[in-house]
Amino acid sequence: MEDFDLLIFGGAGDLAQRKLLPALYYLARDGHLQAPSRILGVGRREQTDAAYREQVAGACRLQLNAEDVQEEVLQRFLPQVHWVQMDATGADYSALAGRLGDAERPRIFFLATPPRLFAPCCENLARAGLVRDDSRLVLEKPLGRDLASAQEIERRVAGIFSERQIFRIDHYLGKEAVQNLLALRFGNTLFEPLWRREAVSDVQITVAEQVGAGGRADFYDHNGALRDMVQSHLLQLLCIFAMEPPVSIEADAVRNEKLKVLHALKPLHGELALQNSVRGQYRSGAIAGTAVPGYLDEDGVASQSQTETFVALRAEINTWRWAGVPFYLRTGKRLQERLAELVVNFRPVPTNIFGDGRMAPPPNRLVIRLHPQDGVRLHVQAKRPGMDMRLKPVHLHLDFADAFSSRPLEAYERLFLEIIQNRLTLFMRNDELESAWRWIDPIQQAWCESEQMPRPYTAGSWGPSASATLLARGGHTWHEETNDDA
Ligand code: BG6
Repeated sequence: MEDFDLLIFGGAGDLAQRKLLPALYYLARDGHLQAPSRILGVGRREQTDAAYREQVAGACRLQLNAEDVQEEVLQRFLPQVHWVQMDATGADYSALAGRLGDAERPRIFFLATPPRLFAPCCENLARAGLVRDDSRLVLEKPLGRDLASAQEIERRVAGIFSERQIFRIDHYLGKEAVQNLLALRFGNTLFEPLWRREAVSDVQITVAEQVGAGGRADFYDHNGALRDMVQSHLLQLLCIFAMEPPVSIEADAVRNEKLKVLHALKPLHGELALQNSVRGQYRSGAIAGTAVPGYLDEDGVASQSQTETFVALRAEINTWRWAGVPFYLRTGKRLQERLAELVVNFRPVPTNIFGDGRMAPPPNRLVIRLHPQDGVRLHVQAKRPGMDMRLKPVHLHLDFADAFSSRPLEAYERLFLEIIQNRLTLFMRNDELESAWRWIDPIQQAWCESEQMPRPYTAGSWGPSASATLLARGGHTWHEETNDDA
């Protein structure tokens, strides 16, 4: 693999500690990160290389499985890690220039910072003469907080980096299970004829979390679940699920198809947005038997905050394939389970030949689980053993952990490998990003203009009851059997 210098702005921050540095450790362990490649953490903190290396080792020990952290690998990895103390918003980039020297390796600038720093950092890098044709820029979400701010960032960044140099991260695209969705759809002929309005009754995408917003309240309270989760992760899942087959797995082939889905989303403005959305905010409750405070009692949350910690939406995609099929999207903090899944509910049988006034067999359902335990489960009907012709729901189950012995890559591990190899397929293009904001902004605006407050829900529940009502209006119910019904 090509050598490089990776600069992580926000190198001592939360994302770096929790995700980026542990992912880089795995790359080093697996031989993808060898000297002379370097990792340079950048930040204001005054500390030596040695102190930063201690911190990196600590982060790896904390985040990774004990058996994965090998002293011998750390001894190899840590000397490649350095710290550059500087204020990225200031004009003096000489410390960084000095560290980079005149090495010919490509430079990867990873901005794990708040989005307001993206444009100033890029401009300062350019002014200091540090950006070259083979440089890459990695932008961590959120990319702005609405269309206008995203466009402003883009305008300034595009003056320095070309589109083919920019890697916009949505770490869900790096998840093994999301890759598997591509494999399921386009590596099999079985599903394609069913992947359409004629066969599908409704689609549900749930990303439920047990964690609260505490600890990140200063970020979260200004953003909320719609901007933090729906604009990025849920819409990306929706795109991959609903897009037409791309002609190849190349970046623009895939991104063109995803963009068409975003363009085809039925706009939700004003009253329509209010009718098709539910926003909630958690109150105190219990998660797995432990009492947790309500959102308004979290440190750093404004006492009257109206920020939503839960969203449910009913979306429609106006294409020949999907017109009329409701896509229900749901995400929230402090929900009952940590769960991410896509559920396809198929249409019921046209007539019940098993008659006798018995209930028609329940429709087939395909559950694509991202976590916990990624896998695919197809619910079908089978005959109960015995004399009578009685049906029983059963399922066919593929558990990826059982099917494969090798360890799946962590999302950031995969994304780093893609960046190093200069492959853009798993990153958002600017037009996708803008289209996503264009769909999200009117919903946010409708909420701001309405008198409605976010609906309270108890921590540890599945969100406000209005979320069930949203589906009930269409004759649907959320798939909530986390241990599965069949
Ligand atoms: C991040 C959001 O992008 O994704 C967080 O900012 C959220 O609020 C996280 O907790 C969820 O990621 P994962 O991989 O744990 O599902």
